[in-house]
Amino acid sequence: MSDALRVAVVTGATSGIGKATVQALRSKGLTVYAVGRNEEALSELAATCGAQTIRADVRDTSAIVEALKGVEVDVLVNNAGILSTRAVFQEIDPAEIDAMIDVNLKAPMHLTRALLPGMVERRRGHLIFIGSIGGQSAFPNSSAYGASKAGLSLFCDNLRLDLLGSSVRVSEIVPGAWRHRSTAPLSRAIRQMPYSTMAIARSSRKILRR
Ligand SMILES: NC(=O)c1ccc[n+]([C@@H]2O[C@H](COP(=O)([O-])OP(=O)(O)OC[C@H]3O[C@@H](n4cnc5c(N)ncnc54)[C@H](OP(=O)(O)O)[C@@H]3O)[C@@H](O)[C@H]2O)c1
Repeated sequence: MSDALRVAVVTGATSGIGKATVQALRSKGLTVYAVGRNEEALSELAATCGAQTIRADVRDTSAIVEALKGVEVDVLVNNAGILSTRAVFQEIDPAEIDAMIDVNLKAPMHLTRALLPGMVERRRGHLIFIGSIGGQSAFPNSSAYGASKAGLSLFCDNLRLDLLGSSVRVSEIVPGAWRHRSTAPLSRAIRQMPYSTMAIARSSRKILRR
């Protein structure tokens, strides 16, 4: 891992891939700010791996930025994401459309917008986005989720162009499905795909090492 990258922020840090990413980055000696809403899970992360914690809704960019005042963030892992409903589009609650676009697409864009100027100025930074196979191909009952993740994917590609020559890197990790409560309604074949949270978290660590 590049010695220059010392401070990371990980959203969705209280569970799954985010929690494993915090542990993976802490094990490499980075100072890690773990963002989430679940206070108990945040306290556990602080106690077990020494993460700094920020209790905030990822949609509340200003609360997160305020908590990071004076911190030079080198790595932002935009991981928080929801698949809040699984139904054919004509049956989903319209509020779920907003929830998935807000958490999966708008929140990472706003947090990136807030933290990127410092990275560009310091000529040091790495933005990591946790996308989804659901943003690369069509799956049944996933239209709003898929659209949010497809948008995130194209955002990454465009951002990479904007940042050419800036020394700030952009990476998208595109997991398949791993065994988790949110994947329970998926088909057996998808649930048997051999991913683990730690394997996905190690991708972030490997990317930073390059
Ligand atoms: N599970 C899969 O099979 C799979 C497959 C492909 C891609 N992904 C993507 O991988 C990422 C992580 O998924 P996961 O399955 O590891 O997640 P998870 O275990 O369901 O955890 C979701 C995390 O996001 C946080 N979160 C959700 N809404 C939030 C909000 N409004 N504000 C702040 N934090 C919020 C939760 O924290 P709090 O509840 O503490 O706020 C939690 O830490 C997501 O972007 C997901 O789309 C997952």
